[in-house]
Amino acid sequence: MKEKIEQLKAAAAEALKNASSKEDLEALRIKYLGKKGELTGLLKQLGSVAPEERPKIGQLVNEAKSKIETAINENRDKIARAAKELKLAGEAVDITMPAKEKKVGVLHPLNRVLDDMIDIFKSMGFDVVDGPEVETDHYNFECLNVPADHPARDMQDTFYLADKLLLRTQTSAAQIRTMETRKPPIRVICPGRVFRADEVDATHSPVFHQIEGLVVDKGITMCDLKGVLEQFAREIYGKDTEVRFRPSFFPFTEPSVEVDVTCSECGGKGCRVCKGSGWIEILGAGMVHPNVLRCCGIDPDEYSGFAFGIGLDRLTTTKYKISDIRLLFENDKRFLEQFD
Ligand code: DAH
Repeated sequence: MKEKIEQLKAAAAEALKNASSKEDLEALRIKYLGKKGELTGLLKQLGSVAPEERPKIGQLVNEAKSKIETAINENRDKIARAAKELKLAGEAVDITMPAKEKKVGVLHPLNRVLDDMIDIFKSMGFDVVDGPEVETDHYNFECLNVPADHPARDMQDTFYLADKLLLRTQTSAAQIRTMETRKPPIRVICPGRVFRADEVDATHSPVFHQIEGLVVDKGITMCDLKGVLEQFAREIYGKDTEVRFRPSFFPFTEPSVEVDVTCSECGGKGCRVCKGSGWIEILGAGMVHPNVLRCCGIDPDEYSGFAFGIGLDRLTTTKYKISDIRLLFENDKRFLEQFD
């Protein structure tokens, strides 16, 4: 019997050496210590042992049992530790590895120029207002002193959505909405998209951007207009920039002007960008027509004002020397990435 116990212990120790997983250990536990296991089997044979030997043999069996038990438990811990270490090794972070580059988006060139413009006008006390892209004939034309049969309507090929409902052809519509809701003194700019049924080419797009400006107060003159636009041009293009007014016509201003700045590329000498003239046209402007003020309930005998409309796309293409306006709308990443 003693021998059997020793053999069993040796066999169990040997088997344990080869156990490499939790499942192996559980099988061993059942084999040796389970209800139908080998040690239990031995205990059952205790009856055949001489009575005086029984306590001794019983003790030996119990000792063997606890020894095997301890060995199995220790082995289980060892296997668990090894598994944990393996897992940690797999998850280890190599802090010497170079970091992955994070790609951050950049502002669209139009937004860059617009942000600059908003800063400049805000510094001169202007508010930024918004207007709807779907407008009525009243705001886009009628109240801007462009009655139904006025030839100026032909200058702007309009997308009509329904009778008297259209996609605004000019941010000037926002002038009217502003004067309807605010009392003078008024000083606002309204940036936004405008729409015209134009053929697409290098300088034309059916969707483009304008920034409307409007100032209404007592005693506003053309000098104020010139001062504001000069300040604006010098901040955008540089302090040596000259501004010139050329007489023009817009139904909603009287007198009306077109405004040029000295070409920022050649400084006025003449180059490819300014087509040799030394000047670049950037906006239309003028003194708000009395009919427009009257339409908005403002007395033209008491108040006067100036307005201007700047083409944002043109400003952006000249500033960044972009040769084709379509690049601004195609959203080709290779183009946009250059404005980092
Ligand atoms: N709305 C004009 C256009 O789209 C631009 C313009 C000219 C706006 C003169 C003005 C202005 O406010 O006073 O061509």
